Amino acid sequence: MVTALKKEQFEEIRPGVKVPAKDTILTPRFYTTDFEAMAEMDISVNEEELQAILEEFRADYNRHHFVRGEEFKESFDSIDGDTRRLFVEFLERSCTAEFSGFLLYKELGRRLKDRSPVLAECFTLMSRDEARHSGFLNKAMSDFNICLDLGFLTKSKNYTFFQPKFIFYATYLSEKIGYWRYITIYRHLEQHPEDRIYPIFKFFECWCQDENRHGDFFDAVMKAQPKMLNDWKARLWCRFFLLSVFATMYLNDIQRFGFYKAIGLDAREYDKHVIEKTNDTAGRVFPIVLDIENPEFYQRLEVCVTNNEKLREIVNSGTSKFLQLFQKLPLYFSNAWQLIKLYFIKPIRVDNLEGTVR
Ligand SMILES: [Fe+2]
Ligand SMILES: [Fe+2]
Repeated sequence: MVTALKKEQFEEIRPGVKVPAKDTILTPRFYTTDFEAMAEMDISVNEEELQAILEEFRADYNRHHFVRGEEFKESFDSIDGDTRRLFVEFLERSCTAEFSGFLLYKELGRRLKDRSPVLAECFTLMSRDEARHSGFLNKAMSDFNICLDLGFLTKSKNYTFFQPKFIFYATYLSEKIGYWRYITIYRHLEQHPEDRIYPIFKFFECWCQDENRHGDFFDAVMKAQPKMLNDWKARLWCRFFLLSVFATMYLNDIQRFGFYKAIGLDAREYDKHVIEKTNDTAGRVFPIVLDIENPEFYQRLEVCVTNNEKLREIVNSGTSKFLQLFQKLPLYFSNAWQLIKLYFIKPIRVDNLEGTVR
């Protein structure tokens, strides 16, 4: 019986409320930053563009978009077994990532209010969007008889501190990759409606425009701070963030290929497409992009995929923790080595293309 299956799959804090996924290197993070440094940032060189973006946020195009219609009233018990678990995991990860944006933007909006009103209002309006997104995803989880306690999550998760410029690299990329992830799923299901086994995907088209606008906001902020993009340190950091974001997504998604299969996508092809698009997009603001055409790029990521599979097998083998440690160590070293080698693949300079169509 399906009902029995779905209940037992998740640990609960209390009935119907899921214990949040454990923090690992691959789970979505919560961030905090130096609010004082953020408030002192001078954005005047690009004030006009930021003002235009603010006007777009105020227009609130998606005000009436996130409404759960009749299509959510049916039962989704036909999504069962492993697919159901993967579905809930997808919703949880997405909800946590959106909520992470909400918390950070909300706090930034509050702290910058009197010092940097344009930025503050942009952050507050973005936090409005992220609250809608995470709320909508959490409601979707409840279609599978489980949800997250976002208040509990706020208190229980660890917060990673990033200096403002790192916040900008990281959030810019996560907004743009979010855009490409949502739109790619949407376009695929538009071609293959038979694979749309759950109605939330229909909402992705307008939804991803929110993420695109958020990304454009961070693009404009970075352009207002040329030193974030101009020197050799910027090139090294951009390389680092591009690689971390792409590798994290790839390792997560290949591990959960069953979710993508359930909606008719091949996880590898999907990820390669999203990486290519995000890499191209990042080239509009970052001084470099990654050389993802280099055969080494996916070869090394695939070694990490295999290592991670072996690591999971070791954990599930039931042998003593002590023995497991020795089995795991070489795999951890191999992963670290692959990532170092990936980092040293020569990136492609795109900053000297300024003025051409990028
Ligand atoms: Fe969002
Ligand atoms: Fe966003």
